[in-house]
Amino acid sequence: MTMERHLATAQAHPNIALVKYWGKRDVELNLPAVGSLSITLDRLCTRTTVRFVPDRREDRIRIGGHEDATAAARVSTFLDLLRQRAGVAWGAEVESTNNFPTAAGLASSASGFAALAVAGTRALGLDLAPMELSELARRGSGSAARSLFGGFVEWARGVRADGRDSVARPLLGAQEWPLRVVIAVTARGAKETGSSAGMRRSAETSPFQSAWLDHQDADLAVARTAIARRDFAALAEVAEHSCLKMHALALAARPGLIYWNGATVEGLQRVRALRRAGTAVFFTIDAGPQLKAVCLPDAVTTVAQALREVPGVLEVIECGLGEAAALLDEAGAAA
Ligand code: DP6
Repeated sequence: MTMERHLATAQAHPNIALVKYWGKRDVELNLPAVGSLSITLDRLCTRTTVRFVPDRREDRIRIGGHEDATAAARVSTFLDLLRQRAGVAWGAEVESTNNFPTAAGLASSASGFAALAVAGTRALGLDLAPMELSELARRGSGSAARSLFGGFVEWARGVRADGRDSVARPLLGAQEWPLRVVIAVTARGAKETGSSAGMRRSAETSPFQSAWLDHQDADLAVARTAIARRDFAALAEVAEHSCLKMHALALAARPGLIYWNGATVEGLQRVRALRRAGTAVFFTIDAGPQLKAVCLPDAVTTVAQALREVPGVLEVIECGLGEAAALLDEAGAAA
């Protein structure tokens, strides 16, 4: 019945990279210059409903109840990939909502394109395996490739020119090592320079670009082993290193990309101080000023309290690790 009406709803969670994706080897296919490794969050989520209308040509796209021309253009380009695959030219109605701030470094493009890939393909009657959905979601936003899966996820750089091998795969389930993530929100508006533009500027102007590319595989290997062994200290070390290295690369671009504000820096110092005092916690930061602190379950209260006290922290959001992107039935339950 759902298929006859060309309608489907899906939900997906954002993910946070512990070994960062930064740089592209192919802009058209959105192939990454490096592999990356992430954790999928619970609690935060994007819900997207897609309805294709056979006798319509244009798309109607609403995100968070608003029509935003820039976001809509990106969604329509993505829908073209789906239409091409299904051999139709139907217009779509897309309604997408996030239960967290959009485009402020909380990975809304990751959960957004993962949910859109799942809902959009189902609405067209296409039945794709999770890895094919991951490959497709990557075309919308690189990090979306990882939000197809729950828990710990690795997205391969791949070597093929057509990108068929640049897909994500699950490494470890959310329940198998239930880390917690405390997000310190330090600013609310959209960021100044989006990830795609920041990556391009870094690759074109940062003198550290080649060093960045050279050491990624070693970092990924360390992180993979740390996760397999549930070795928190080793994961903390490599994740903070990867984060700071990505930001060092971006800071050295021309003009330099400064994604942090004062509260971000205060927050990361707080996390370091907590770890020195024996709390199992590390930080990571993406292309925006929010600080994400990853910790063991028994440290979450201490970490959340400490970050709440940092001047400039507006809100603290506690999450656990979440599950894969999924179709929802009409009542909003997992289908
Ligand atoms: C800093 O996936 O948003 O969050 O592929 O251009 O859409 P595009 O970029 P995007 O970049 C994410 C960058 C990052 C690190 C990461 O998530 O690995």
